[in-house]
Amino acid sequence: MQRKFDSVIIALDTPDGQRALEMVRLLKNKISIFKVGLELFCSAGPSIIKKINEEGCKVFLDLKFLDIPTTVAGAVRASASTGAFMLNIHASGGREMMMKAKEAANAVFFDEIKKGVGLKPLLIAVTVLTSLSDRDLLETNIEKSTREQAVALAKLAKDCGMDGVVASPKEIAAIRRELGPDFVIVTPGVRPSWADANDQKRVATPGEALAAGADYIVIGRPVTAASDPAKALEDIFE
Ligand code: C5P
Repeated sequence: MQRKFDSVIIALDTPDGQRALEMVRLLKNKISIFKVGLELFCSAGPSIIKKINEEGCKVFLDLKFLDIPTTVAGAVRASASTGAFMLNIHASGGREMMMKAKEAANAVFFDEIKKGVGLKPLLIAVTVLTSLSDRDLLETNIEKSTREQAVALAKLAKDCGMDGVVASPKEIAAIRRELGPDFVIVTPGVRPSWADANDQKRVATPGEALAAGADYIVIGRPVTAASDPAKALEDIFE
């Protein structure tokens, strides 16, 4: 079913599975994808994905794997069969890690096809976290700007067969230009002009992010912490 805000992914950042499902029921007529991150996954477990799917919605499983290639491949294999629509790993884990992750996702897909299921989750690579600034990178000895680093990681991710990247609003245009129209760009760090940036440093409004070429924007606190989340979502897009 097409929904009004199909390019919006709402981040369910809560430790309470019941509260997360209430948010899904409240917003499911307006959007179709919800993000399950580390906090909710660690407290509610993989069954939360099935419950959200049963509400007729898709799940972006945002666990941002970063480890040695074999470990990440195992984690991708396990999470590719949870029913998630999108999974992610860190591009900074490097070529071998991304390629092994891709192989694992494909293997699950082909197994599922044999069983007649055949859901192929999008495998997305995180470039540079939206909470990091150029100065934060410098402290880790990376002398490139956040934009240069994000574009370089996006190119590597595409080369390794990733379906797309997570990148901040500030890098969307450059990534779209370099990597073409079919590479998926998922953008958190999105804030309406009237909202608090919280811990996000490289922010833009939803309009700016979509105009720059994002396929999906991820919004958390400006909607989920509002007294009326459905109204906050509408207000953001006014
Ligand atoms: O509340 P807020 O809108 O800042 O939530 C953004 C969400 O997007 C959080 O769940 C955060 O984990 C996630 N995210 C991010 N930056 C990334 C990748 C994911 O903020 N690079």
